[in-house]
Amino acid sequence: MTARDTLGRPLRNLRLSVTDRCNLRCQYCMPEEDYVWLPREAILHFEEISALVEVFIGLGVDKVRLTGGEPLLRRDLPTLVRLLAAKPGLRDLAITTNAVLLADQAQALKDAGLHRVTVSLDTLKPERFAALTRRPTHAQVLEGIAAASGAGLTGTKLDTVVMRGVNDDELGDLIEFGRRVPAEVRFIEYMDVGGATRWSMDKVVSRAEILGVLGRRYGRIEPVPEPESTAPAERFRLPDGTVFGIIASTTAPFCRACDRSRLTADGMWYLCLYALTGTDLRGPLRRRASREELAALIVGRWTARTDRGAEERLAARDRGPLIQIGQLRQDPHLEMHTRGG
Ligand code: GTP
Ligand code: 5AD
Ligand code: SF4
Repeated sequence: MTARDTLGRPLRNLRLSVTDRCNLRCQYCMPEEDYVWLPREAILHFEEISALVEVFIGLGVDKVRLTGGEPLLRRDLPTLVRLLAAKPGLRDLAITTNAVLLADQAQALKDAGLHRVTVSLDTLKPERFAALTRRPTHAQVLEGIAAASGAGLTGTKLDTVVMRGVNDDELGDLIEFGRRVPAEVRFIEYMDVGGATRWSMDKVVSRAEILGVLGRRYGRIEPVPEPESTAPAERFRLPDGTVFGIIASTTAPFCRACDRSRLTADGMWYLCLYALTGTDLRGPLRRRASREELAALIVGRWTARTDRGAEERLAARDRGPLIQIGQLRQDPHLEMHTRGG
């Protein structure tokens, strides 16, 4: 059975945050000096995550992506991957990581049954990386990316958040790097999500601008038509056949086709990246709710879903950061790094 929301969107894609901690401090996500963390005892155990994922699979989920914070900071992550990879019905099991710790873990993750990785890579310049992330670990990231293909992982993607005056001069170089990995590069428009407290529209480099810059370097760029796709990225092809993606969530949102929901590390379930409230699944789970009760709770929420967060933001005038710092401190679930990128 696949549950559908009020706009006919299926419950199919679950983003599972396994920790709210991160070992980088990217400007577009964690620009502040200090953060309020989720309490340790609230973090779901692997068995709890596994039980919830089974309920979700029963309701139509067939894609799971592990996120963070930085998911590789979660101890024994390959054990969780093994538990999830064994479930019939999961068509796609991926991870979004900053790759700082990937060199050590790529092989164990692959052996545990992980299908593919997406690495956040915003720059090829070590000093720029240090300024952007406030950590000097660029070399580890590059080693991590190399280790992914070394471990036999295929379908690797590289995600670049493009910010004006920060890394918008590296688009072509990132494409060249992606070719060599090999990995598909995707450029992401800077989004005014929770946690992006320094966001402003003038720092957003739009899809149109990105295509303009790459068109001047490479010549004619063709769209790759994918009518069935619910992915956030639109794909394009360069004259030599290289394919890259653009995720234009800020200027051209994909809410109409959005089949994704998010579970935070402490078991709060959100129906939209921009949603201000979520559903507590940890409480019922720890009170020993039956599978049927959990399924009924989830279906009830999904079938009532009306969220079109990014489209609503697009309609807002005088756009600024979505959520102010005081509100983020009161409820860390509003942070992108808690909600899982
Ligand atoms: P695949 O297409 O399956 O590879 O995954 P994905 O593109 O969903 O995964 P990834 O984690 O790489 O997401 C890429 C980026 O898209 C995120 O980091 C966000 O910037 C953006 N994004 C992800 N989910 C959402 C969402 O629900 N809404 C919006 N508006 N943007 C999102
Ligand atoms: N805008 C766009 N993408 C963001 N991410 C985090 N914050 C933002 C933002 N403000 C995404 C990045 C990163 C992933 C974990 O989350 O793509 O790769
Ligand atoms: Fe989906 Fe909300 Fe993102 Fe739109 S903004 S794509 S509805 S999660």
